[in-house]
Amino acid sequence: KFEKIWLIFGITTLIVFLSVIGVSAFYLGNQPPSCLATINPEKVDTTAPFDKPGLKKVEGKEWDYELVFVASAFAYNPGQVEVPKGAKVKVIATTKDVIHGFQVAGTNINMMLEPGYISEYVTTFDKAGDYLIVCNEYCGVGHHMMSSKIEVV
Ligand code: CUA
Repeated sequence: KFEKIWLIFGITTLIVFLSVIGVSAFYLGNQPPSCLATINPEKVDTTAPFDKPGLKKVEGKEWDYELVFVASAFAYNPGQVEVPKGAKVKVIATTKDVIHGFQVAGTNINMMLEPGYISEYVTTFDKAGDYLIVCNEYCGVGHHMMSSKIEVV
């Protein structure tokens, strides 16, 4: 009798675990949450806004600036950029070749840049200083050299 109870308990637990994995993978989305829009990775250089990387003031949006980055092995464009302190900035980034990371040290910005997808993050830089951007996805022999810098002034 007890064996039967344990068997039912075991099977129920298994079903619960499998459901949790299934829901988290397919329903909650087993994808980076910021990857919404798509782009042709071969036409990044001629597709707005990636044809003009860097900081741009925008009007009539929830953010004051758009900061556009293009990643490719093994650099970011721009390699360095100034951002006014306290400005609300939407970071928009993509990659021209393989998967790269986009982690801004000292902040909670940590995106994955995937070929064909646009990664976005809205943030405010409240503290002045230099923020190093590093690639945290292994992308090839130059991976460790891949970086950029946001200077909040
Ligand atoms: Cu790009 Cu690692």
